[in-house]
Amino acid sequence: MTSVYAQRRARLAAQLGAGGIAIIPTAPERQRNRDTGYLYRHDSYFYYLTGFAEPNACLVLAADGTSVLFCQPKDLEREIWDGIRLGPEAAVATLGVSQAFSSAEIDTRLPRLLENRGRLWYPFATHEGLAVRVEGWLGQVRARVRFGALCPAEQGDLCTLLDEMRLVKDAHEQDIMRRAAAISAQAHIRAMQRSARMLRAGQEVREYHLDAELLHEFRQQGSQYVAYGSIVAAGANACVLHYQADKAPVHAGELVLIDAGCELDGYASDITRTFPADGRFTGPQRALYELVLDSQKAAVAATRAGARFNDPHDATVAVLAQGMLDLGLLDRKVYGNAQDVIEQRAFFQFYMHRTGHWLGMDVHDCGSYVEPSELGQSHERKDPLSGETITNRPSRILRPGMCTTIEPGIYVRPAAGVPEQFHNIGIRIEDDAIVTETGCELITRGVPVEPDEIEALMRD
Ligand code: GLY
Ligand code: MN
Ligand code: MN
Repeated sequence: MTSVYAQRRARLAAQLGAGGIAIIPTAPERQRNRDTGYLYRHDSYFYYLTGFAEPNACLVLAADGTSVLFCQPKDLEREIWDGIRLGPEAAVATLGVSQAFSSAEIDTRLPRLLENRGRLWYPFATHEGLAVRVEGWLGQVRARVRFGALCPAEQGDLCTLLDEMRLVKDAHEQDIMRRAAAISAQAHIRAMQRSARMLRAGQEVREYHLDAELLHEFRQQGSQYVAYGSIVAAGANACVLHYQADKAPVHAGELVLIDAGCELDGYASDITRTFPADGRFTGPQRALYELVLDSQKAAVAATRAGARFNDPHDATVAVLAQGMLDLGLLDRKVYGNAQDVIEQRAFFQFYMHRTGHWLGMDVHDCGSYVEPSELGQSHERKDPLSGETITNRPSRILRPGMCTTIEPGIYVRPAAGVPEQFHNIGIRIEDDAIVTETGCELITRGVPVEPDEIEALMRD
């Protein structure tokens, strides 16, 4: 049976054009200090085409479908220290590539592989130093033109092909993403319950206690990494969008915002929940929470095949704008109605990010947000807040299998005219959605969003 990776290589090869050849390296190892490295994580493009997670590897794929892998050679001494290596001999059968060689041979073998090819593809601006290495390999091809060798005359950005492929998740990918999402959902529940339990017992809770629960559940269920640095933000820290889990105390009566997701088998999950530290929302907290939840429901309803990527954002903003007026966050005497709030972008004071992003192997996954078939259609508009001229292009039309987050929020920093009861409240609700023909599948609802359900699970 052909592996999903071989199938993807075949699909990519068919797009390289006659005489095309592609180079796809994995990620480099990075030194943390002295002889200690950062935890290694493969390159997503490389893994998408190989399923191979070892460092020091590079795939070369030709338009006729033949593939050559360069990988770490077997080396007893290094394997004693660093772990077992697949090695080139086993790689052919295990990974289904046509040929495999030691990565030590890449500089001698690659120029020969590039000879007489019309176009060379590699990912532009993603691997530091790769363009320079490519120049070196092509230089060696040029050195042989006297002997009749032809040097590729064209270069193409392989990201343009791979990004489109990765944007629509196949069944294999969707299955892993559902599992990653389920683990992350359980981790959020674990953190919520620990917060309430410790506060009820009169114990001091800090953000890192809740972070520990997330990590425990991620690893307990076999996830290899966090998909990004977990945000565990108590009280006013929730208004700092990129706050990282730290040591601040978690107080009863405050909200906690957790934005955390695991990476499982190369795929990210990305969940945010905001909950009362002791398990009971106060009135003002619940009012703001329900507004964000209503805006998320509107965004979910706007997420389906045929809709635009921007539609869920526009649906969110419409609900938030009205709610900001109704709750007195924005002054009706200044903004008569929700349309004014939207046109003047007044909501930006409390909602300053987009409602979603592609999700996949990378948490902010690859893929154009502009509809490729409508690239030429653009119009300029002036931003009402900054005065900047912005070029808008038609937003991407959603297709089944695309995966996006849906993550509205509201962040109330103290300011003149803003009701004090809402000061320092930060709320975001984030779920991961797979687009379907008729709507979307929310794969992160293993952890609830309804305030009553959150209170209930924190009582148990
Ligand atoms: N956790 C990153 C994001 O929500 O975009
Ligand atoms: Mn996100
Ligand atoms: Mn997130």
